[in-house]
Amino acid sequence: MKKRLAVLISGKGSNMERIIKNCKSGFIDASVVFVASDRPEAPGLEKARSLETPALVLSYKETGKHGAESGLLEKIIRERIDMLVLAGFMRVLSPWFVNQLAGKIINIHPSLLPAFPGTGSIERAWKAGVRVTGVTVHLVDEQVDHGPILAQEPVRVGRDDTLESLERKIHDVEHRVYSRILRDFSRHGNLSAFRRRQLV
Ligand code: GRF
Repeated sequence: MKKRLAVLISGKGSNMERIIKNCKSGFIDASVVFVASDRPEAPGLEKARSLETPALVLSYKETGKHGAESGLLEKIIRERIDMLVLAGFMRVLSPWFVNQLAGKIINIHPSLLPAFPGTGSIERAWKAGVRVTGVTVHLVDEQVDHGPILAQEPVRVGRDDTLESLERKIHDVEHRVYSRILRDFSRHGNLSAFRRRQLV
């Protein structure tokens, strides 16, 4: 049976877009049942709708964090979502919410965690002068950008790279790695098989 995904975004939604397209093409044996954003102005919402995927705004502004998370959890249960996919979602989920969905929330981060967690990771890695950075996909636990690592892929910082070219390289890798992990999940049914296994 096709897996049912929900994707949370806050901004552009380029990872989300790639995931929806890869579900539609059959590369990932799943469907994106809905997309949700904490920011009504997130450009990714329109992008999702143009790909015929329902997109909604979470009620953080009106109801606060607990109200927004409760509403989201109800929808996740009602829609029988198998995996909640964080793709540039800028809010920290509460321990209560994470525990309700233990092992069913996945995140992508643009660094080799545990290096450079939090926001602005690519720029901070660039300013620190690292020669290698990369991308991490992990299960979400109660801490920020933390939890069992499912995949990591390194990205070299070349002599000719600028911050902008490094960002482009990292985003290209993100799009590929996230879809690959979700394809494996859609085929094998759960993610525990990948825990602590380096996939690249
Ligand atoms: C990505 O770099 C992701 O790793 C980070 O936020 C960014 C989201 O980009 N968590 P997009 O909205 O998918 O284009």
